[in-house]
Amino acid sequence: MSLFNVYPVNPITITKAAGSRVWDDKGQEYLDMYGGHAVISIGHTQPHWVKRIEDQLHAIAFYSNSVVMPIQEELATALNEISGKKDFQLFLCNSGAEANENALKLASFHTGRKKIIAFKKSFHGRTSLAVAATDNPNIVAPVNETDHIIFLPFNDIPALQACFAEQGSTIAAVIIEGIQGVAGIYEASEAFLKAIRKCCDDYCAVYIADSVQCGYGRSGKFFAHDFAGVNADIYAMAKGMGNGFPIGGILIAPHIQAKFGMLGTTFGGNPLACAAALAVIEVMQKDHLIKAAEEKGKYLINALKNTKGVKVVRGRGLMIGFEMESGLEDVRKVLLNDFKIYFASLHQLGSIFLIFSIIYLFYQVSVLQK
Ligand SMILES: Cc1ncc(COP(=O)(O)O)c(C=O)c1O
Repeated sequence: MSLFNVYPVNPITITKAAGSRVWDDKGQEYLDMYGGHAVISIGHTQPHWVKRIEDQLHAIAFYSNSVVMPIQEELATALNEISGKKDFQLFLCNSGAEANENALKLASFHTGRKKIIAFKKSFHGRTSLAVAATDNPNIVAPVNETDHIIFLPFNDIPALQACFAEQGSTIAAVIIEGIQGVAGIYEASEAFLKAIRKCCDDYCAVYIADSVQCGYGRSGKFFAHDFAGVNADIYAMAKGMGNGFPIGGILIAPHIQAKFGMLGTTFGGNPLACAAALAVIEVMQKDHLIKAAEEKGKYLINALKNTKGVKVVRGRGLMIGFEMESGLEDVRKVLLNDFKIYFASLHQLGSIFLIFSIIYLFYQVSVLQK
């Protein structure tokens, strides 16, 4: 049987990893600046993370959400602390798309409304509602098409206010990435996020912060949305949450109330995934990784701005994209083949963006300095 061929793959087989290094099946070492698309938050095979999962595996790997699971409560408390969202509630699932799907559904349950505001170039995942709120017609199947989603221009306050003035009483939620990732690293302005907060307050809609890619400390704050100094009502998380162990979740403001059966999942919140997520938070706290992301990000952004051939640099912390001048489109291939550095890339407007998608670059900075 062949694999269903949906991924354009690099011809590399990675067989071993440690920290920010990976090795292929021929023993060639690479510096991993990609981290499997923003997933590796504390480094590959981080020893505390491995041990936490191993210990949990020997105790119990899985049970369903039909019994009390203290490890879920432990994770909720740890998340309250590290995120600063003290009285928020936690619902656990398995991926970023699922986190957004549950967030959108919950907003609709909470408000009794159907319309969702999303933004141009957004990416929110591939499940039904999440993909409908994603601005890429190529990945929306006919069955996912809905007129419940309103796409507005990103960072356009007058357009947002006009939409609320016209249809405010029908709007369940606004969903926005604090830094658009797949689009090519575009930050939501602080004024824009504040305007979303105000419109949602004025019209009793739900502000959903898609933090799947820009969250978990990568920007130099736990949630990139926090730079605006206002809270969202729901934060969607995944990717860096488990450092590669599949887990997602939403943090939910206290005024949104749960009802039995409203949301649910078989695997979400299983003990093994919770152990992985707890290990991530413990390492982030012990090694002050959010501060490190902020500091190393400043260094890298500055270094990139002063690098010949780099046209534009965008981002915050270690969520950085840069665009090369024309004629240098092959830089990603050169970095991979000649320097053994693995990056993500996006082709846009005939040029290339390279994205540092690993959150905490333990050794990268010193390598780049050489
Ligand atoms: C901002 C954002 N939201 C949601 C998702 C979907 O996450 P997942 O692939 O875990 O479903 C992604 C994935 O790239 C993302 O970047």
